[in-house]
Amino acid sequence: MSDSDRQQDIVVWGATGVAGRLLAAYLTEQYAPEDLSLALGGRNRERLGSLEADLCDRSEAWEDIPVVVGDATEPESLRDITSSTDVVSTTVGPYTRYGTPLVEACIETGTDYCDLTGEVNWIRELVDDYHDEAVDAETRIVNSCGFDSVPADMGTLLVQSFATEEFGAPCDEVRIYVEDASGGVSGGTLASFTELFEAASNDPIARETLRNPYSLAPPGERDGVDRGARRLPRKDRLRSSWTAPSPMAPVNERIVRRSNALLDYPYGRDVRCSEVVPTGGSLVGAAGSGLVAGGLGLFTAAMSVPPLRSGISRFVFPDPGEGPSERQIENGHFSIRVLGHGTGADGSFTVEAEFGADLDPGYGGTARMLGESAMCLLRDETDTPLDGGVLTPASGIGEPLVDRLRAVGFTATVNEVRE
Ligand SMILES: NC(=O)c1ccc[n+]([C@@H]2O[C@H](COP(=O)([O-])OP(=O)(O)OC[C@H]3O[C@@H](n4cnc5c(N)ncnc54)[C@H](OP(=O)(O)O)[C@@H]3O)[C@@H](O)[C@H]2O)c1
Repeated sequence: MSDSDRQQDIVVWGATGVAGRLLAAYLTEQYAPEDLSLALGGRNRERLGSLEADLCDRSEAWEDIPVVVGDATEPESLRDITSSTDVVSTTVGPYTRYGTPLVEACIETGTDYCDLTGEVNWIRELVDDYHDEAVDAETRIVNSCGFDSVPADMGTLLVQSFATEEFGAPCDEVRIYVEDASGGVSGGTLASFTELFEAASNDPIARETLRNPYSLAPPGERDGVDRGARRLPRKDRLRSSWTAPSPMAPVNERIVRRSNALLDYPYGRDVRCSEVVPTGGSLVGAAGSGLVAGGLGLFTAAMSVPPLRSGISRFVFPDPGEGPSERQIENGHFSIRVLGHGTGADGSFTVEAEFGADLDPGYGGTARMLGESAMCLLRDETDTPLDGGVLTPASGIGEPLVDRLRAVGFTATVNEVRE
């Protein structure tokens, strides 16, 4: 438990949703009530009560878990919740629709915060409207603490720290490869994805955010050498494989660039960063990259047309609250490889990090990444100079998050690649 006089250490906000239930289950399995005081937060007392009963039935240690009730659209109810806890970990999305009043309440009450958002348009809104306030309040608002964007952000941090320590210089090119990601997707995630397309059609700042690769950097620093996410298949220069665009690149690349900017450019001002899906070196790899790029292009085009978007989200996507099956979650796994290439005093070098787990990435894996992010904030286990602001996992927490994830079964390695 923390030393503060607040009632709770962590509130899981959105505990009745797909990701929230997994987060609450993870925290109650991993920690005992003597070590962590937890509350389940949401808008429906009855559903929270039955979740509490279910979690306590499955646990020998937890006999009861307090519930806190509020509404994402009622700021007063949120202030009551945030002032009673040290950390809020929120899975209430789409964040563009529901997220801002909670961030305001956290800054007002000095409550650290972590979330699962991949909605870059919304992160941009926070950066522009709340970063300075959060810095003044010394409150950490840490976005994207799930599969978006912990593996990419932490993998890059590992590669760049290793390069700087071993070779005296950071890598000038970093590529994130989504080697393997097997799991399911929930209605809530697809609703958030749809919200991003809605914002892109209605809001010019959202469009600019998606166009400019540096749009999440601080104002005045939104320019650099990268030209934007790839759309076409490409033969990779750093390894002999064909690659396709990654659907998560628009989020992950921007988060990595924001980390670099917030930490005052330890990766250099001219570092190139991209995320891709490798498909293999042969003709089959070439065909695979064409198929992935074509499928993603068609899907993006369809989601950009309002009537098609609303048809797809109504008739194809599962509803919010529906999630992947237990089997999908249990059998999931993922592996992200980050390759960095640079030049030190003794010549060029290549560094490789691997980040993965035998867990479904978006749910089992994400519950641990978000849960351990909250634990780092609670215990002040961070190694960054920043104690407030609208932050990323690497700039708001740093390597202590990697250590915690290793301790709960994640692979996180970094080494030099010798020719
Ligand atoms: N980064 C990643 O890797 C990753 C992975 C998974 C999910 N996500 C993101 O996490 C978010 C949640 O996903 P999900 O699948 O868990 O969604 P979900 O199942 O629809 O859950 C949403 C939660 O928000 C609550 N909620 C909705 N409106 C509310 C309001 N007005 N006040 C208070 N609570 C409200 C819901 O409460 P009720 O139960 O009462 O309806 C539910 O608990 C999405 O934005 C998704 O994109 C990200």
